Amino acid sequence: MNPILLKLKLSKDWKGVLFKSVDSTNTKLLCDVKEGRADVGSVYVAERQTGGRGRFGRSFESPKGGIYMSFCVGDAEYELSTVTAAVAVTETLLKFGFSPRVKWVNDVLLENKKVCGILAQSVGDGKRAVIGIGINVKSDAIPKELSEIACGLDSFQKAVPQDSLIVSEILNTYKELSDTLPEGRKNIISKYKSFLTVLGEKVTVLQTGETVFAADVDDTGALMVIKENGEKTRLSSGEISIRKITTDK
Ligand code: BTN
Repeated sequence: MNPILLKLKLSKDWKGVLFKSVDSTNTKLLCDVKEGRADVGSVYVAERQTGGRGRFGRSFESPKGGIYMSFCVGDAEYELSTVTAAVAVTETLLKFGFSPRVKWVNDVLLENKKVCGILAQSVGDGKRAVIGIGINVKSDAIPKELSEIACGLDSFQKAVPQDSLIVSEILNTYKELSDTLPEGRKNIISKYKSFLTVLGEKVTVLQTGETVFAADVDDTGALMVIKENGEKTRLSSGEISIRKITTDK
């Protein structure tokens, strides 16, 4: 592990450290925040991860050729942090000429394949949270068994912006959005909804196998669905994954 200070175009709110290789930027930052070596505004970026983590304890493949970043935010933003991060990533990719969409709750897609995953974890002290973002950049770094469902930025553009530019733009956009909270909540949710692939579609709830109609997103980012028997219910992001019936991978 060889941490060096990141030379990014970051606003003064962020302090970045780059690792050549780390088990997981989320795990490392969570540990360092708990032990007082990092705090709100700390950003860890790794060239590769040996134990990248996804939602529900899954692993997240993190070979060299992707962007793996985690940052610490104040807990006031925690409830909306995944949604805010998804909007920040999506707006960043739009700015760089890509056409991203969001699969509720935290996957960013390009042409229906996953290009980015987001994992928000509470530090557990009621004050801070860590948000991790993994972006596939080089498609030839994606393991073969994932090539049907995942893609890299370089499949869509020959000249992908430098990693440091992408990281800076995501962080600065996240900060601009979160600075508008709590008043800006409706605006963030409304942007998020405009990027979603599932609204107005039938989806399968992976944990139960049920088919439901994705009707709306509430003010916390939860998905409001209608079951086949007409019952309305709310799916919370921490517990549920969905798959679009037709085209989602
Ligand atoms: C998911 O798709 O379930 C979420 C994936 C989140 C991956 C990122 S990569 C940077 C940070 N470190 C991790 O171990 N996970 C997140």
